[in-house]
Amino acid sequence: MENKITQTGTAQMVIEGKSYDLPILKGSLGAPGVDVRSLYKQSGHFTFDPGYTSTCSTESQITFIDGGEGQLLYRGYDVEKLAEESNSLEVAYLLINGELPNAEEYKTFKQTITNHTMLHDQVESFFQGYRRDSHPMAMLTGTVGALSGFYHDDQHTTEDEARNLAIHRIIAKIPTLAARCYKYRVGQPHVFPQNNLSYAGNFLRMCFAVPAEEYVVNPIIERAMDKIFILHMDHEQNASTSTVRLAGSSGANPYACIAAGTACLWGPSHGGANEAALNMLKEIGTVDRIPEFIARAKDKSDPFRLMGFGHRVYKATDPRARVMRRTTHEVLGELGITNPVLEVAMELEKIATNEEYFVKRGLYPNVDFYSGIVLSALGFPTDMFTVLFALARTTGWISQWNEMLEDPSQRIGRPRQLYSGATLRDFVPMDKR
Ligand code: ACO
Repeated sequence: MENKITQTGTAQMVIEGKSYDLPILKGSLGAPGVDVRSLYKQSGHFTFDPGYTSTCSTESQITFIDGGEGQLLYRGYDVEKLAEESNSLEVAYLLINGELPNAEEYKTFKQTITNHTMLHDQVESFFQGYRRDSHPMAMLTGTVGALSGFYHDDQHTTEDEARNLAIHRIIAKIPTLAARCYKYRVGQPHVFPQNNLSYAGNFLRMCFAVPAEEYVVNPIIERAMDKIFILHMDHEQNASTSTVRLAGSSGANPYACIAAGTACLWGPSHGGANEAALNMLKEIGTVDRIPEFIARAKDKSDPFRLMGFGHRVYKATDPRARVMRRTTHEVLGELGITNPVLEVAMELEKIATNEEYFVKRGLYPNVDFYSGIVLSALGFPTDMFTVLFALARTTGWISQWNEMLEDPSQRIGRPRQLYSGATLRDFVPMDKR
């Protein structure tokens, strides 16, 4: 990656009466940043920013979010347009390479991915080691990490060819691993990949086909699955992506880095919100109970929040939620499901988006508001929701990992701290304590 951020000015920071000049850096879109890299050397002071709410950890050219406008761009392309008009493999190519593929490039990429969909037969033994009731995210985290034992190559960090192979392998194998987690959990025999199917179609078949019956991929469901993959592929420097970058910054094996990202995504504050949103909609149950829940959400003495509403970055509608809303209707229509939960969701959205409390705070439905409904309609149990998120996000993680390694300004990630523990004290032998 060629560094493209430029200095547009100078900021002055005054610390205890002494002034320091710090460069102001600007990318192609978004807010500028103050470059504090030299601050400690110059002044002996660190910056303090737990949760990184005001800290850019890297330059990146992959994804841009405008939270105020409700816009999400992958390599400059609007995610809504990509979800409606492209497909997951084309978007994966775009995220990795920076440009949409031409017909020849797409053909080669698709062929390469489909050539790598099978797992090494020995991976099966890892699954056999899990309890049947293990959480699928536990199995996914463990088995993705285990791939590092199969593909350990020190050239991953230095050689383009080895790096590309790792990228293709992980994108190809993650649906097979995710489906295997599901099959193991439900006690069904695993279904091998079938390479004449699409990325999403193959995944659906590996999840829902059984040896006793013919399985035909429903094109509407396949398209919905593919859109869900596209919408979740990348979201700039969120917690799990930053985890992948931090792990990778030491030169660690790429599969181990993706396992680190998977572990981070597992947390309920990150990947688990769609499950919480679906549970809330089920708890509300009927439209007449909505005002009671709206009142609770507005009541500051009540910890209840409308799950699936609000976002740290988006202060307008999450663009992914718009696509997900349409997809939900398409899927439920196709499957002939009249779901009371959807009725509650639509009414709740209508009421909440007109209430002053929510409008004033920029609280709109996020992607998780609808994704739980659609995923359960597709037949996935709630504990698979985060696995599907991890499957899709793997493409973003590996693209970000690749970009980091190609960035000439990349250094090992090493945050500092403000130490507030005990100062130097003498060791006291045990018999004197
Ligand atoms: N329901 C009711 N009130 C809310 C909600 C909500 N869902 N979200 C925020 N608020 C209120 C807060 O009480 C606060 O009000 P105040 O200013 O009167 O004190 C104000 O809006 C700002 O809230 P913060 O928590 O400061 O906003 P932040 O940006 O830190 O939080 C978050 C974002 C965590 C997503 C929050 O909106 C939330 O908890 N939403 C519900 C959980 C959820 O859907 N998470 C999924 C996020 S999307 C994803 O991870 C893919």
